[in-house]
Amino acid sequence: MHRRSFLKGAGVVTVVVVGGVVWRAYDQGVFSVGEGPAYEPWKDWSNDSGKTHGRLALVRAAILAASPHNTQPWLFKVTDSSIDLYIDTKRNVGALDPYLREEHIGMGCALENLMLAAAANGYQATVKFFPGKLGTIPADPTPKLLARVDLATGKQEESELYDAIPHRHTNRSAYFPQKPLPPEFVDTLGHLASDESNGKIFLFPAEADRKKIVEISSAANTEIYSDPEVDRGSNRWIRINWNSVQKSRDGLTLDTFGMPPIATAVAKTVPLWMLKWAASHGAIGGYSKLMLSAPLIGIIAVHDRYDQEHCLRAGRIWQRAHLLATARGLAARPCNEAVEMIDYERAHERPALRSRQLSELLGDPEWQPTFVFYMGYPTLTARASPRRPVENVVL
Ligand SMILES: Cc1cc2nc3c(=O)[nH]c(=O)nc-3n(C[C@H](O)[C@H](O)[C@H](O)COP(=O)(O)O)c2cc1C
Repeated sequence: MHRRSFLKGAGVVTVVVVGGVVWRAYDQGVFSVGEGPAYEPWKDWSNDSGKTHGRLALVRAAILAASPHNTQPWLFKVTDSSIDLYIDTKRNVGALDPYLREEHIGMGCALENLMLAAAANGYQATVKFFPGKLGTIPADPTPKLLARVDLATGKQEESELYDAIPHRHTNRSAYFPQKPLPPEFVDTLGHLASDESNGKIFLFPAEADRKKIVEISSAANTEIYSDPEVDRGSNRWIRINWNSVQKSRDGLTLDTFGMPPIATAVAKTVPLWMLKWAASHGAIGGYSKLMLSAPLIGIIAVHDRYDQEHCLRAGRIWQRAHLLATARGLAARPCNEAVEMIDYERAHERPALRSRQLSELLGDPEWQPTFVFYMGYPTLTARASPRRPVENVVL
């Protein structure tokens, strides 16, 4: 083939290929990060139609809370004087959370946002927890009532935590390791659960402790995801496709993986198996490195990890902690594989290695670890995750 006609042909091919990639990128929402109906709840979060005297605004705030894999397991029943919180047990991550412990913690996160919004909307709110112990995932997916929030007229109290609700996003980018957190913040964080008799935060700023936790978490991460059953449960909630994000409005999207914008854009154009291959070959961060980049690791502990109320209290503490970090310009990310391995070892009747390892770190047999997180100054801004509309979660 003549050189000129080859170049012409190559040019046409290039235009077609580049055009195809650009079209696929466009189709995958590469140019529309955080846009579309799936992200509307972050914008109209404090609105209320007026008909419910602000009570729907409490639910609008609640649905912006954290939840495992963004499963959003919540349902709400709003009456004139109360809001009931139900867990929708079919919205689960399967073998990764065999007792729905994490889903219950997510319910506690929603409850915390709801309580902050109640105060901001002039309600005096009182929580009643319904007692119960966690069991295996029920085959019968009937929503289960976990808590009732009674609402009476009260003093209107906005807080920095309430104001932080629409700005809180899980940040999975690397953090600046040499930038320590302000001592005043660490002190406030350490006392955040001091009014809770059934929940406590343990903080680990020392490098030697952090290295130990990272080692335990990294080994747990490798082990738990090597089980195809766990992988399947997790994959159900990974949303690569733009249209599926806008349709389901839940799950983990690539925008929230903490990658730089260009890498995120490229990732959106490749299939999931390729992304997983890249991740398993160290192309997308390295989990230990990411965790170690944070100057602070924390563990939330309760007296009984499998008690319904204790899970909800742990969730309230996490949500409060993340909102406080957000309000102070800091980033945070949960890193729960070590506690997930506690559940896994229990479910598979294996020796309780992870429970022993984490308990040794706390050094107090009264407290059982149930949630691990890290905090710091981020290298990249975190993106919002999608949310289902309030109409879909009100009974
Ligand atoms: C109980 C619980 C466990 C979580 N565990 C992890 C985790 O191990 N790693 C992680 O990156 N995010 C974890 N998350 C964060 C969720 O993935 C996140 O809240 C969800 O995707 C919604 O995103 P947002 O927090 O930015 O709103 C956890 C959240 C909850 C409530």
